[in-house]
Amino acid sequence: MSFPANFAWGAATASYQIEGAAFEDGKGWSVWDMFCRKTGMVFKGHTGDIACDHYHRYKEDVAIMKAIGLKAYRLSLSWPRILPEGTGAVNSKGLDFYHRLVDELLTAGITPYITLFHWDYPYDLYCQGGWLNPHSPEWFAEYTKVVVDALSDRVAHWMTLNEPQCFIGLGHQLGVHAPGDKLGLAQVLRAAHHALLAHGKSVQMIRAYAQSPARVGFAPVGLISIPATDRPEDLDAARQTMFSITEPSVWNNTWWMDPVLSGTYPEDGLRIFGGAMPQIQPGDLETICQPLDFFGFNHYQGIVVRADEQGQPHQVPFPEGDKHTAFRDRNKEYWAVTPESLYWGPKFFWERYHLPIIVTENGMSNIEWISLDGKIHDPQRIDFLQRYLLQYQRAIDDGVDARGYFVWTLIDNFEWAEAYLQRFGLVYVDFSTQQRILKDSAYWYKEVITTNGTHL
Ligand code: NOJ
Repeated sequence: MSFPANFAWGAATASYQIEGAAFEDGKGWSVWDMFCRKTGMVFKGHTGDIACDHYHRYKEDVAIMKAIGLKAYRLSLSWPRILPEGTGAVNSKGLDFYHRLVDELLTAGITPYITLFHWDYPYDLYCQGGWLNPHSPEWFAEYTKVVVDALSDRVAHWMTLNEPQCFIGLGHQLGVHAPGDKLGLAQVLRAAHHALLAHGKSVQMIRAYAQSPARVGFAPVGLISIPATDRPEDLDAARQTMFSITEPSVWNNTWWMDPVLSGTYPEDGLRIFGGAMPQIQPGDLETICQPLDFFGFNHYQGIVVRADEQGQPHQVPFPEGDKHTAFRDRNKEYWAVTPESLYWGPKFFWERYHLPIIVTENGMSNIEWISLDGKIHDPQRIDFLQRYLLQYQRAIDDGVDARGYFVWTLIDNFEWAEAYLQRFGLVYVDFSTQQRILKDSAYWYKEVITTNGTHL
């Protein structure tokens, strides 16, 4: 059993979560700069103003990536660092940072995978309606062109949007992430449609202006159902749950993936959303559905599903006290540990969309501190990653075309509304000194990479 040659063993981060330098060198405000200042929205009122100070310490961080042996690094760019007002004037100092970072990565032999948008939306554009504005897809296309003109001579791998389910669902429907809006369903769907159009137009820009052959994808949340048993009924029930829409929310797979990969909005969604649907202009779905080179998805925990006597799917609750991580969500549920989802997810996504798979994020938050021996012992993370990777490998052995895997995340960082409470990193950060210490899992991952996953 082995992972394919040239498998992209990587780790991922996002600009707002690590960069800091929030008001330096001409960077514009993002909605997260604004949201962190709203009382009660972020744990202890923390911000990403400094975060991991990666903006100043990127050389040290790239050296750490090299020490871990990463083949690939998934980073995102801060749109308002590059275009402080979102459109128009380019901030050359901001763009220079990414020039330096990309060069540093390439010198270290690490392939950059760039996410164009990982939630730090320009505040000025938000003030003009943000994703609700019908011009928002054009704004994103303009930003894409600036980036592609600057970096595509050295960067080949691109992702447009990170987890649209979250920045639209959590940010615009539930209001628990930036910009913190609680819009009605019709407006949520309009914002979602514009985000999808932005994706399509961005892909068109990459294809039109890339100076070297581009490999393009996106990185939605992959919501995965694990069949309770191998019975065909349970397999069907899991498939059905994964690819259906049963409530008026954007928290699902198909509302995002079907338009992007198949050029249609799913029928069940159209039925449920009914009169709240936005106006779809002729040609919109053609714009949204641009050929992609890979299917990226972020994944943390799945659900277990079984079929009842009538073949109807039902979620099976986890046993009391079952394996879970340190992350507790808004419903006070801990994120479960479900390694099998990295078998079934790749299989079901491959079966439905037939594009090479890249797991663009996977990992866990843990409770950890520097031990008396000066080290960070995180056996749970090693076990977690090992279990998930073994299942991913099983999917590959079953014929799934998988091209990469990115641990979330390289270094402990600003975990959105949870701020610095949740540590997901392979590398520990002492936020009072900015000292970085490789955790045991980083050394373990190095071994996995060196052996191409043959000794998992
Ligand atoms: C997904 C998001 O893309 C990332 O920014 C976040 O930190 C992780 N999930 C963990 O919650």
